[in-house]
Amino acid sequence: MRAILCRELSGPAALALEDRSPPEPGACQLRIRVRAAGVNFADALMLRGRYQERPPLPFVPGMELAGTVDACGAAVEGFVRGQPVMAVVDHGAFAELAIARASDVVALPEGIDPRLAAGFPIAWGTAYGALVWRAGLAAGETLLVHGASGGAGLAAVACGRALGARVLATARGDRQRERILAQGAHQVLDSEDPDLVARIRALTGGLGVDVAFDPVGGPMFEVCRRTVAWEGRILIIGFASGRVPQIPANHLLVKNAAAVGFYWGSYREHDPGRLRAGFRVLLDWLQRGLIRPPMPETLPLERTAEAIARLEERRAGGKLVITVDPQPATASR
Ligand SMILES: NC(=O)c1ccc[n+]([C@@H]2O[C@H](COP(=O)([O-])OP(=O)(O)OC[C@H]3O[C@@H](n4cnc5c(N)ncnc54)[C@H](OP(=O)(O)O)[C@@H]3O)[C@@H](O)[C@H]2O)c1
Repeated sequence: MRAILCRELSGPAALALEDRSPPEPGACQLRIRVRAAGVNFADALMLRGRYQERPPLPFVPGMELAGTVDACGAAVEGFVRGQPVMAVVDHGAFAELAIARASDVVALPEGIDPRLAAGFPIAWGTAYGALVWRAGLAAGETLLVHGASGGAGLAAVACGRALGARVLATARGDRQRERILAQGAHQVLDSEDPDLVARIRALTGGLGVDVAFDPVGGPMFEVCRRTVAWEGRILIIGFASGRVPQIPANHLLVKNAAAVGFYWGSYREHDPGRLRAGFRVLLDWLQRGLIRPPMPETLPLERTAEAIARLEERRAGGKLVITVDPQPATASR
């Protein structure tokens, strides 16, 4: 099979397309014929050894995918060969064939485009899980979403709207404004506006935001801290700015506020049932039109390095997905 290989932790430029032997699934695993794989900021971090998970070299990057079941391990139940699925993997998605634990694979309802499904699990799973499980976002509350042009941020805008919140989103300049409004934001503000804090305060009648979703960190976390309402919750999602904020505990104390960490991937170990329940809700919303994820821009497998570099350098302009041409099927098991 063709696969993208990382042989050194020096970033996307060192990635190469290589031929590899098809991987064999273990007893509780599935082999999936990949049709498309989502690109995430975490891929860029992993290729530089800066992600919390560090697979041994060489490895195939890529953490989420959609395709069809190609083979099932002996202990796997409930999946059949040829069934459309989406899955999350530790790494290995940028390849023609990938191995996933059965507990990380979700059967897809008919009619869902694999390009859409490939970019769905991490961004939308994170947005839903953080807002519902950790922040308890309620209808009528105000949600502030930073990094709203990015994968996780845009999904948080849409999920917040589906949950009945008033959604204020921030993004750089005006370029992504229409895309973010189309996902349900009530207001899109410029993340580089020096008066951003005052604007958010004015838009909330001085009360501040009930929940802030922050995948950016650095100066954007400061905006969360200064605009969070009494009993508000700041969701710490990631640090796309490259800067990990320090939190003055006294500010949380006086506002009865909470800074809440959220790492979606950790539920794969601690509570996989909750992840599956989240996907049931999200797929139901998708089918009922409550959320309408935009079709991602696609690049072919051989351009994976370019896609990851674009994300790393803030040139992505939305979710990117790698497509894998269908190849003749391997021997069935
Ligand atoms: N905790 C979890 O479970 C979880 C799950 C998914 C993602 N994450 C993390 O969340 C972050 C975003 O991931 P993603 O996949 O959504 O990435 P992405 O698609 O590349 O989006 C990154 C976003 O951050 C914005 N941004 C980057 N640098 C910025 C800066 N200095 N100031 C303001 N905005 C800035 C970008 O806005 P521009 O358009 O202005 O460049 C973009 O909207 C990453 O740190 C990732 O590791 C965490």
